[in-house]
Amino acid sequence: MTWNRRHLLDIESLSTEELLTVLDTARGFKAVGNRAIKTVPALRGKTVINLFVEPSTRTRISFELAAQRLTADVINFNADTSSLKKGETLRDTARNLEAMNADIIIIRHSAAGAPHFLARFLQCSVVNAGDGAHEHPTQALLDVFTIREKKGRVEGLKVTVMGDILFSRVARSNIWALRKLGAQVTLCGPPTLVPRWFEQMGCRVCWDVTEALRDADVVNLLRIQHERQRQSMFPGVGEYRSQFGLDRARMEGLKPDVLIMHPGPINRGVEIDADTADGDRSVILEQVTNGLAVRMAVLYLVTGNDPGFVRN
Ligand code: CP
Repeated sequence: MTWNRRHLLDIESLSTEELLTVLDTARGFKAVGNRAIKTVPALRGKTVINLFVEPSTRTRISFELAAQRLTADVINFNADTSSLKKGETLRDTARNLEAMNADIIIIRHSAAGAPHFLARFLQCSVVNAGDGAHEHPTQALLDVFTIREKKGRVEGLKVTVMGDILFSRVARSNIWALRKLGAQVTLCGPPTLVPRWFEQMGCRVCWDVTEALRDADVVNLLRIQHERQRQSMFPGVGEYRSQFGLDRARMEGLKPDVLIMHPGPINRGVEIDADTADGDRSVILEQVTNGLAVRMAVLYLVTGNDPGFVRN
């Protein structure tokens, strides 16, 4: 087990060994979550601040609960009622939070690179909870954790990521994590949202849905990130659904043991229909459950705890 980092800023810079350290540590914390008493004192006396400057349901609540399970004090920063609205800079806001003895600042921001920016001048740990279209490292960690738990391995699996790849931080972090762990990654969606240059990240780009889904062991669906698109990238939602939506008919062409994943929030009836989202191949809610264990592992590791301490 190897971990010597104060921050978790991205997946790109992690080694395969570091990735596996997070996954193994998370497995120990998942077991803790199944006990009658779900809290451990690993972060007792530490202060965690959720600095979310973009909306979130899963990531923010999961980090909050993870910090509480580790017995940390946790504060949720509300951007809408903060002094950011009065013109305070992100740098000054973060330095003021650190001045209140924050040990970890977890940041979600619409600007790519915002967590890396904070890490340059803060002494406390910085954890990236999603920065623009750049990375969403804990989402990728919980995704590969779920694949490994369900399939017993990641290496050699065929994983198709389908949807709006271009504007997706989830896609980028997943590509890095899956490639480092030895999966074969296919990207599928409209050519405007899945440009050929993603092949430089070691992926196959395939615009033919039937071909992209045929041999997949895992299908990870992404929503259209309207909030980041500055122009229309395809004719309309109906067109997208008919060309790329995963429904009962398309499910019939998939392997019987395929895993259907989605980071959420899902747009039912667009990238995935209700039957598929709630069907027996879907692990969407298990991803959410695993997110808690993964985020406990990340908070535990960035504060310098012994990676070998949490055994399964
Ligand atoms: N998957 C994800 O990041 O969801 P939230 O935006 O709700 O945090």
